[in-house]
Formats: sequence, structure tokens, C-alpha cells
Amino acid sequence: HSIHYLDSTDSTQKVAHKLSQEGCPEGTIVIAEEQKNGRGRLTRHWYSPKYTGVWMSIVLRPNLSPQKAPQFTLIAAIAVVQAIEELTNVLPEIKWPNDILINGKKVTGILTELQADVDKIDSIIIGIGINVNQQLSDFPDELQSIATSLAIESGRKITRAKLIQCILMKIEKYYHVYLEKGFAPLKILWESYAISIGKEIIARTVTGEIAGRAIGITNEGILKIEDDAGIIHEIYSADIEI
Ligand code: BTN
Repeated sequence: HSIHYLDSTDSTQKVAHKLSQEGCPEGTIVIAEEQKNGRGRLTRHWYSPKYTGVWMSIVLRPNLSPQKAPQFTLIAAIAVVQAIEELTNVLPEIKWPNDILINGKKVTGILTELQADVDKIDSIIIGIGINVNQQLSDFPDELQSIATSLAIESGRKITRAKLIQCILMKIEKYYHVYLEKGFAPLKILWESYAISIGKEIIARTVTGEIAGRAIGITNEGILKIEDDAGIIHEIYSADIEI
């Protein structure tokens, strides 16, 4: 594997996209100490201050159709949840599709992006941002009520290199499970960490709101919501309110 370690960059996603276009091998990793222009979902900014977090992007090249891409967000989420649990003894929860929460506050975001044509993925770029050693006062005011870090929640400083190592080992493991056995075993594992399943939620999509009970995810990793009329909606992308 090749690991690109950067002191500072605008976004590890951007660097990974470029490496991917240049034909980098599967398993290429980009890690930065700081991102000046970290990207979140839905064109949001991702706050990525120096030395306190894990800001990394992973390039995979599965031979699959682009419809399978959302599954990779879920696979990465399983790996991150388990790594956090192993290193801190705090068990985080997953909020579909990509938020990892501790005590209801966001500790990790995952952004999965693609280089693909209509029927084949060329590369999938999984960006993972983890708030590790920040104290609450280190977060900007607007984030203090919604964000947290592993240090805040576990009461101690976490070695980021260990966390990265643990996550990469788990992603590799579950990627192989996926290639050999498909998504089914991972879907069960993912659902066991998910908070939204079985709960009444509101999904805000680009086209409007859908309220109902989250009943699970499909084999593609798409969220299923049953509304009061018993109609099942499949949600590809939304913000979820629980
Ligand atoms: C989200 O919750 O909106 C997703 C946040 C993803 C942030 C990570 S940090 C590493 C990688 N590089 C980026 O610019 N974004 C992702």
C-alpha cells in the first residue's frame, strides 16, 4: 500500500481524487495533519484543525456498478465504530448514512465519492474525518452543541496513529468479507450499531420531507422508511432527524 502523509492540504479527498485519476493502486491512503478546506456531505465544510483529528481518504477499486457505492460508507462506518470501541471502550452509534455519534453528538463523518462511468466504478474514495483530541472549547461556537471528540467522551488522549492502524485493518477485513460474501453479513452488523432503525424519523431530502419509521436498509445500503399509510420509501440521500 502507499500512504501519502501530508502536513497540510486543502482536502485529502481532493488529493485522493487526483492520485486516482493518475492511476494509483487500490489501497492508496492520504492522511493529513490539517485540512484547510475539508469537505463534508452536501457541499458542507468539514472543520479539520491541525494535530487533533484523523483526516484521511482511502482509494478502493472494486469491480462493481456505481449503485453499490453507498455500501462502502456503511462498511467504513462499521470499521470506525469498532476501532473506536476497541481503543476507548466507548461504543458509538451510527446515524444513517454516515454520521457516527457518541451521546448524540457527532464524532465522525464519512464522505464516499466515486470516479465511475454508468456501469462500472473506476475508483471509490472514502473520506473519514474523526474528531480525536479536541476539547470542547477548541470547536467553533456553532459546533459546540453538535460535535464531540473521542478525548471529550473517553476522558483521555487517544493516539491517532493507533486509531488509523486499527481502522485500516478493519476496513481491509470487511472489504474482503464484502468481496467474498457480499453485503448481507455487513448489513446485519451495520444495523446492530444503527440508532435510527426502528425509530420514528424525519428524512429531509432535496425534494422534500418524509416522516415515518426507519425499518432498515436495503441490500444496497439505502434507508427504508415506512410512513403512516404503510408506504415504504427508499431514501438515497437525506438528513435524518430522530
Ligand atoms: C460529513 O459528515 O459531511 C462527511 C465529512 C467527511 C470529512 C472527511 S475528512 C477526510 C476527507 N477529506 C475531506 O475533505 N472530507 C473527508
